[in-house]
Amino acid sequence: MFQSPKGMHDILPSEWPTLEKIYKAAKEVAEFYNFSRVETPILESIDLFVRGVGEATDIVEKEIFVLKTKGGDKLALRPELTAPVIRSYLQHGLHRLPQPLKLFYFGPLFRHEKPQAGRYRQFNQLGFEIIGGEGDPLYDAQSIIVAYRFLEEVRIKNLTVQVNSIGCRVCRPNYRRRLIDYYKKQKVCRDCTRRLEKNPLRLLDCKNTNCAQIKLGAPSILDSLCTTCKRHFKEVLEFLDEVNIPYSLNPHLVRGLDYYNRTVFEIFTEGNDLALASGGRYDYLAEMLGGRSTPASGVAAGIERIVETVRNEPVFQNQRIKPKVFLIHVGEVTKKKGLSLIEEFRKEDMPIFEVLGKDSLSAQLERAAKMKSPIALIFGQKEAYEESIIVRDMETGVQESVPLSKVIEEVRRRLK
Ligand code: HAM
Repeated sequence: MFQSPKGMHDILPSEWPTLEKIYKAAKEVAEFYNFSRVETPILESIDLFVRGVGEATDIVEKEIFVLKTKGGDKLALRPELTAPVIRSYLQHGLHRLPQPLKLFYFGPLFRHEKPQAGRYRQFNQLGFEIIGGEGDPLYDAQSIIVAYRFLEEVRIKNLTVQVNSIGCRVCRPNYRRRLIDYYKKQKVCRDCTRRLEKNPLRLLDCKNTNCAQIKLGAPSILDSLCTTCKRHFKEVLEFLDEVNIPYSLNPHLVRGLDYYNRTVFEIFTEGNDLALASGGRYDYLAEMLGGRSTPASGVAAGIERIVETVRNEPVFQNQRIKPKVFLIHVGEVTKKKGLSLIEEFRKEDMPIFEVLGKDSLSAQLERAAKMKSPIALIFGQKEAYEESIIVRDMETGVQESVPLSKVIEEVRRRLK
């Protein structure tokens, strides 16, 4: 028997009500904070990620799924959506719209990671990007606020934000030097020996237990920030204080993507060491992709991690089924007429259940009870002949025959 590919999952009907609630909350939060929806293709040129996310990141080095088209182009299944959104912004000249442009998106992405709880090869993100404008620290704070409020909206409690600044083109080289000096004296893993050469900041991101221990003694980037970056960071924190968003400073937080500068952050809930949402400022990304300099900041939340967190919350468990009438038919003729009656109900925007594929009356009545339908409409041979239908109150069992032409009116009256 076939199985879904490793690390990739079906989303079954039972899971959709929870997801729908999450997406509804996302849309409401996006609308309130004035984000407009954008959608980009699942496939993009691989160079977009090599240049945008960075050649020496785990995402590009180890995790990207690449395919070759028949024409010989190399396309990647997107491993993240910030670079595609900026590609789209540049391609369509969206800088001509009022700035900053606030965009949000939902969608699947792909990373060839080692599958485990909360870490999949195909997963979904909800993202918010604030693009253009003046690079104001306010937008860094707003990226955190929108994600935080969304997580609160889906009833996730005990949220904490870890935040750091990784400086800019001016001050980061100093920090890199301090980091290299420190790490040269340590015995790190094979990957980190390579990182030391190619991308020293990534040393702080290593998951190896020994390297995690070494990281604790590494110099803090906050001591190396230039005056402008220090001021920017201070203002971000002041904005967070203003709206009572609790945060803690994590000077070793560097994130796994190379496009960030200044503020970076991750949002957690108590008892889970995988981030629910993460993001930061990325002022250089548009230039890295060949566009004009465009300050920006943003955040993305992992939908699967959110579902796993809220699944057992009572609001997500009690899925209320809206009461609907249930159409029961007896015989072939009524099956055909039943089908057209359903269309009549649709025209009137009145929901209706049916199992026209089942012929047994008792099986259909059983299903009507299971679906908690308050009314069953019983359509037998005699009724079809007389152009009438039986309306049965499912609670009392009382039945009444009404003309077919009046059934919608009658149901509407009873369901009022
Ligand atoms: P990221 O930290 O790679 O950032 O991913 C954002 C979120 O996606 C994570 O916080 C996590 O909830 C979820 N996530 C990441 N990897 C997996 C996985 N393998 N399985 C399940 N969930 C996962 C970005 O992608 C940036 N583009 C975020 C951003 C937007 N920065 C600025 N704007």
